[in-house]
Amino acid sequence: MRVFVTGATGFIGTAVVKELIDAGHQVLGLTRSEQGAVALTAAGAEPHRGSLEDLDSLASGAAASDGVIHLAFNHDFTNWQAHSEHDRTVIATLGAALAGSDRLLIVTSGTAAAITPGRPTTEQDAPNSPIPRVATEEAADAVTSKGGRVVVMRLPQVHDPLKQGLITPLIEIARAKGVSAYVGDGANRWPAGHVDDVARLYRLALEKNVAGVRYNAVAEEGVALREIAEVIGRGLNIPVVSKTPEEAAEHFGWLGALAGVDIPATSALTREQLGWTPIGPTMIADLSKLAFV
Ligand SMILES: NC(=O)c1ccc[n+]([C@@H]2O[C@H](COP(=O)([O-])OP(=O)(O)OC[C@H]3O[C@@H](n4cnc5c(N)ncnc54)[C@H](OP(=O)(O)O)[C@@H]3O)[C@@H](O)[C@H]2O)c1
Repeated sequence: MRVFVTGATGFIGTAVVKELIDAGHQVLGLTRSEQGAVALTAAGAEPHRGSLEDLDSLASGAAASDGVIHLAFNHDFTNWQAHSEHDRTVIATLGAALAGSDRLLIVTSGTAAAITPGRPTTEQDAPNSPIPRVATEEAADAVTSKGGRVVVMRLPQVHDPLKQGLITPLIEIARAKGVSAYVGDGANRWPAGHVDDVARLYRLALEKNVAGVRYNAVAEEGVALREIAEVIGRGLNIPVVSKTPEEAAEHFGWLGALAGVDIPATSALTREQLGWTPIGPTMIADLSKLAFV
């Protein structure tokens, strides 16, 4: 297949591009820079110049493909709401370019899109989260309601020894504040998945070609935030402290709304439907290898 990948130059996109090419697919990778074009060419992909703001570039990339994996997102979290709202426009544009065909659009969400107190979130839980990124799933559902063929890939904290999803900004907050913090007793959990396992799951979802489903790219149902804070504290050689829920917003800033939330997620259905078995190292193993200084 010829696959249009947005975010092809990013952390997860780079792994997805490699996974697709290694499996014999062709990749048309969106990039907004010459540096990105060079990297994509070196990886064996064809660069497609454009951006999330240039909707024509998205439509032409999708039109030239047999399927789309949408990973690009502007991670300036000071404008999280605006970037999440723009993702609606992006997804509607990609969906319109594929309309009337059997080509699949895979969009990227997070497991925190659905919050189910007392039990791990499943693939069948509808999005209900207060976080702005829920716009992504609403946009996917809007394309589905118009007859489009869409898959929602819900990501946990995706990691390797260099990057760990929202743990990466947690490290920067700890570095800036001089303490590594968790909320309350820190027993609340975030799910995790190794980047290579996640990349394989995107390929399996594309090849399975079933639309109207959500998948959870979850290898570990939940890793306690206290355990994460302790590894960060050791890595940065700073104290590990508990913050009250009231103190969380001040300490964690934009991450304050999530830092104390228990949001485990299961991938039982995903594993069964796609024959996916994660094999990568755990998040704590990767985090422990990080060069903190
Ligand atoms: N990492 C995680 O643990 C995690 C968890 C949940 C959800 N997600 C989601 O998974 C997706 C990929 O995440 P990631 O960790 O790979 O992110 P990343 O490393 O920050 O990569 C983001 C990608 O988006 C591209 N991009 C950003 N703004 C753009 C714009 N205005 N126009 C075109 N391209 C733009 C970047 O291109 P440049 O190379 O040009 O900057 C890059 O390729 C995102 O949607 C993210 O929100 C990630």
